Amino acid sequence: MAELRFENKVAVVTGAGGGLGKAYALLLAARGAKVVVNDLGGTFDGSGSNATFAQQVVDEIKAAGGEAVANYDSVAEWDSARNIINTAVDTFGRLDILINNAGILRDKSILKMEMEDYRKIMSVHLDGTFFCTKAAFAIMKDQAYGRIVSTASAAGLYGNFGQTNYGAAKMGIVGMMNCVAQEGARYNIKANTIVPTAGTRLTFTVMPEDIIGKVRPEYVAPIVAWLCSEECTETARMISAGGGYFSRAAVVEGPGVVFDSTKEITVEMIVEKLDQIMTLEGGREYTSAMEQAGTVLSKMIVS
Ligand code: NAI
Repeated sequence: MAELRFENKVAVVTGAGGGLGKAYALLLAARGAKVVVNDLGGTFDGSGSNATFAQQVVDEIKAAGGEAVANYDSVAEWDSARNIINTAVDTFGRLDILINNAGILRDKSILKMEMEDYRKIMSVHLDGTFFCTKAAFAIMKDQAYGRIVSTASAAGLYGNFGQTNYGAAKMGIVGMMNCVAQEGARYNIKANTIVPTAGTRLTFTVMPEDIIGKVRPEYVAPIVAWLCSEECTETARMISAGGGYFSRAAVVEGPGVVFDSTKEITVEMIVEKLDQIMTLEGGREYTSAMEQAGTVLSKMIVS
């Protein structure tokens, strides 16, 4: 196939001063995109700030002949998030691609988790994704074109010990993108979610050393670039990627059972039909809450 290019496209990548975001920014820039490299800097738990993170990536892109500008704002406040998006328009005149990638960790089991750890994670991941997406959406709607890729995690999709804050925020992002995909459909705005695995400073402490080399951020970047491309017609998808593995993940609802709701529905009836209620065999994905409601309604009418 012809090489996928991003000439005349402008991208914002949040948290692009290192790890996965840096890999996305470098790949998009190498393929011709003009890139806003956003990064607040600071430590992995969200303390402090450091402008060198974003600047170094911009220097690297420019040294390779690409175009990029650094932005050091936080995604976690509405005004600063808007400033990130405005940097794209002010510098390059438009915005086609938003990658919501900035992230931090504050892992603790639920009883030990301070409210500040909970709120900080919600603020950077969930609020940050909402603020940047809201600001970008206005521009993308006006130009009837946009590609948004946000970042979830297996900790949200499947759960992980010590990450109630992070798991909630990450699964919240999936729900947010499902809705953004519907609102963006008529404006050719696609919104998808990446579920990455990569050896970065967020995972160095939990990943065995021999694995880290096998899950480089560069292995996730190709599918993120494709999700950002004009060629991508997929929307509201979750894609797992890491170490050369690529796969779509989905929310699936089983066929279920329908009881006659004109009569009493007892606890015992539920227990008797538990196998049918729990099975996902013959299950399906829904493209919207309306489609799911319509299907359930039609099952009620038929039964
Ligand atoms: P990383 O720590 O290398 O990159 C995250 C970047 O976001 C950092 O450079 C940090 O300075 C920046 N950042 C943090 N708070 C910010 C804020 N308020 N505003 C702007 N920038 C901010 O970590 P990594 O692994 O590259 O993480 C990227 C994304 O991928 C995160 O959303 C993370 O939760 C997610 N993720 C990573 C996984 C992995 O295996 N590495 C697994 C699942 C999800």
